[in-house]
Amino acid sequence: MKNLWDQKIASKLEKKPLHLRVYTSQLLGLDSELVLHGGGNTSVKILEKNIFGEEEEIIYVKGSGINLATIDIKGFTPLRLTHMKKLVELVHISDKTLVREQKLAMTNSEAPNPSVEALLHAIIPFRWIDHTHADAVVTLTNTPKGEEIIQQVYGDSFIIIPYVMPGFKLARMVYEITKKLDWQLYKGMILLNHGIISFGSEAHESYERMINSVKLAENFLKKHSSMPKINLKKRTPILNYQTLTTLAKIRKKVSLIRGNASIARLNSSAEARFFSSIPNIKNISTRGPITSDHLIRTKPAPVYINKKNVEKSIEDFASKYGAYFDRHTDGKQSRLDSSPRWGVWAQKGIISFGQNSYETEIISDIAMHTVRSIQHAENLKSSNFRGWKPISENHIFEAEYWDLQQAKLKTESQPQEFKGKIALVTGAASGIGLACAEHFNQLGAAVAGLDINSGINKILLDRTKSGGTNILGIRCDVTEKHAIAKAISKTIQYFGGIDILVLNAGTFPAGKAIEEVEDETWNNSLKTNLTAPQKLLQSCLPFLKEGIDPSVIFIASRNVPAPGPGASAYSVPKAGQTQLARIAALELGKYGIRVNIIHPDCVYDTGLWTSKSLKRSASRYGLTVEEYKNRNILKTDVKTVEVARMVCAMASSVFAKTTGAQIPIDGGNERVI
Ligand code: NAI
Repeated sequence: MKNLWDQKIASKLEKKPLHLRVYTSQLLGLDSELVLHGGGNTSVKILEKNIFGEEEEIIYVKGSGINLATIDIKGFTPLRLTHMKKLVELVHISDKTLVREQKLAMTNSEAPNPSVEALLHAIIPFRWIDHTHADAVVTLTNTPKGEEIIQQVYGDSFIIIPYVMPGFKLARMVYEITKKLDWQLYKGMILLNHGIISFGSEAHESYERMINSVKLAENFLKKHSSMPKINLKKRTPILNYQTLTTLAKIRKKVSLIRGNASIARLNSSAEARFFSSIPNIKNISTRGPITSDHLIRTKPAPVYINKKNVEKSIEDFASKYGAYFDRHTDGKQSRLDSSPRWGVWAQKGIISFGQNSYETEIISDIAMHTVRSIQHAENLKSSNFRGWKPISENHIFEAEYWDLQQAKLKTESQPQEFKGKIALVTGAASGIGLACAEHFNQLGAAVAGLDINSGINKILLDRTKSGGTNILGIRCDVTEKHAIAKAISKTIQYFGGIDILVLNAGTFPAGKAIEEVEDETWNNSLKTNLTAPQKLLQSCLPFLKEGIDPSVIFIASRNVPAPGPGASAYSVPKAGQTQLARIAALELGKYGIRVNIIHPDCVYDTGLWTSKSLKRSASRYGLTVEEYKNRNILKTDVKTVEVARMVCAMASSVFAKTTGAQIPIDGGNERVI
């Protein structure tokens, strides 16, 4: 645990407490051993004048679900302290009332909803308060004699609070326990099975108390826990074909149970594989989370995936989850879906499941922190202390089905058509392919974009700014068999499957009459425009068979139904591609895979069309460039985004009952009609 405090920065912020609060909150947020993705919260109490010129004590608390690492001033909610403190004096209030009262206490109606721990912050009589779920501290408390260990580590310097639901119950318990305590004797509180709070009259004091106390817990673990030696530098193995197809099967089963397509990301690092190979790992790993705060992301436990029957393992998880819900519900909650959020795959590693890459990444981080915590607790040297013992199932249920926690996840406004689906697009660095990658991504799909252009990943990230981790650019020459295999393997390991395949990469060789076409031009065009799509389709098939509403789209050409003179090297492989697609539609229907063809023309905002190639094509038809561009019936050009929209429609439910179709997008061509 590093102390990241920089006095130079802090001094500049001394007179602006809220800015200083942002700075020290970010310091905490930067360390994943302290807080993860939206976890933890901080506050500062400030005297402010209201509109009547009266001085009021305001507590600024972190907004619910906001990430400490990236928080800014707007991420804090100002609340009237007197109002908040009075609320805790009530013996009980419902969540609904609490939310309403907190809103009434806010001095800025546009601020975010305050953290669920706002009340707790309000009753602690210190100006600066930091709350984290530090792995080391919570790990110590998640053991059979957690409280005893905590006392050993901290003596009387911290108030120890038994586990109780966060929110009003916790604030109320702390209120009762501390009524007769002299707060000045303490540096903070240890919330058993939950986290740690530090406080101080200065920002620095509170921050330092946090770091130093977490260090004490880490030192205890270092001394008293014998962690297995794992060579973390050991290379992650290249996954074999069977593992990859099984991963796609797992992903499909999880998606079906969730009722929505999901991404599955396999962590097969040495650490993840070691954990998944521990003999009694099924029992140990499914006891519960590090802190109840993780439940909304991870559910109570991971699925243990047995090597022999992966699908049955997931079905068993779902029925056990249903039984757990039935055991605890009082009839007022509605059951969440029964699919797991992460899994321990025997001897293979750890899998995380999410509806997009961002969610999957968060779950993956939490899972790996859980893996380490469990190992620390299970490897404590003293048998007296040893063992992973998180909160009870009753408490888990209470926290998982707590409305205020679930509310953190309900930010999505409109369901996206391709949420959780995985599209592989070839030739994605330019033109139609790039537009397809962008459009699929905007509609929620995770996209793997392949291109011979080595700048592919950056191009995709720049174009799909909000795509973030939901997009993956892979340099791949689609005419190379091994490169295809590698790119597919990377896609499966990162996203878990393929639902949509867009065969778009293509080249347009210089137009020449048949008697002039060089062998090399002919062969190269066949390689890129015919053999590559065939190889790609063949290699993706095992994964498409495990896809969710799988669909293949070939980007052929208007040249197929209406060939032009001088383009044999282009039109012949495109016609071959079309024939391949038609046969694929016949063969793959039995697997539910739809195969459709798009024949574009006049798409000029692509790399395929240069002023030189435009002139060349126009002259082949005896037209000027302008006449050539307007030679279709609608007298229009076609934009790449319009082709992309058609591709997405073909992959969507609009075309659910269509396979083997050839659709032009060419502004209307008399010869085609
Ligand atoms: P583009 O040149 O903008 O994009 C093609 C992409 O494919 C490029 O990023 C290129 O690097 C990539 N590529 C080429 N060879 C590759 C290889 N061996 N491995 C991996 N990637 C490779 O062209 P555009 O117009 O977007 O073309 C896309 C597809 O649409 C092509 O198949 C083309 O034949 C077809 N098409 C285009 C029409 C148009 O008017 N633009 C009309 C009819 C069909």
